[in-house]
Amino acid sequence: MGIQKRLSKKDAPTTITNDEKVISQDDFIVSKTDTKGFITYCNEIFVDMSGYTAEDLIGANHNIIRHPDMPRVAFKLAWDLLRSGKEFFGFVKNLRKDGGFYWVFAYITADYDLKGNIVGYTSFRRKPPRSAIEQIEPVYKLLVDSERRGGMEASGKLLADFLEEHKTTYDALVMNLQKGA
Ligand SMILES: Cc1cc2nc3c(=O)[nH]c(=O)nc-3n(C[C@H](O)[C@H](O)[C@H](O)COP(=O)(O)O)c2cc1C
Repeated sequence: MGIQKRLSKKDAPTTITNDEKVISQDDFIVSKTDTKGFITYCNEIFVDMSGYTAEDLIGANHNIIRHPDMPRVAFKLAWDLLRSGKEFFGFVKNLRKDGGFYWVFAYITADYDLKGNIVGYTSFRRKPPRSAIEQIEPVYKLLVDSERRGGMEASGKLLADFLEEHKTTYDALVMNLQKGA
């Protein structure tokens, strides 16, 4: 019996391309993880969109599809919310096995046992409107740039300032963008 290698972002493609795969309007990408973010379930749409086999994905760290254009502060926000039992909504650019990418509107929530302990997480993703991608992409670029210079402290401040300037909250901004506003 061979030991199955657990894939993680170290195994992800290093040649990143501009090939976009667009998710169908009616499709949902579904995955489940344990409490540390290792994938325990994936549906066929996830296999199709990511380009990995289900065998590759099960047991892999979810960061296998982490795209370098995504700001770290987005994942920090997601994990902070999830660990405290709250839901996360957000726009995520994901890296395909072939180096291409796909955008999703992601929803992540915790799974509980009967005693109320968090035992893992489940994510559903659907197609974001093009207008949302067009608006969020430059914001993510600014966040990634500020992280390169000043780490997550800098991007966290930038995000807070951006939300204050637009007199909105993260959740309200994301929901409005998903509505196509
Ligand atoms: C249920 C669930 C689904 C996730 N889905 C994604 C995803 O689709 N893409 C992604 O980059 N990270 C996803 N993450 C976040 C990853 O666990 C990880 O925090 C992120 O890829 C950044 O990884 P890094 O900090 O190792 O770079 C998900 C986490 C959970 C719990």
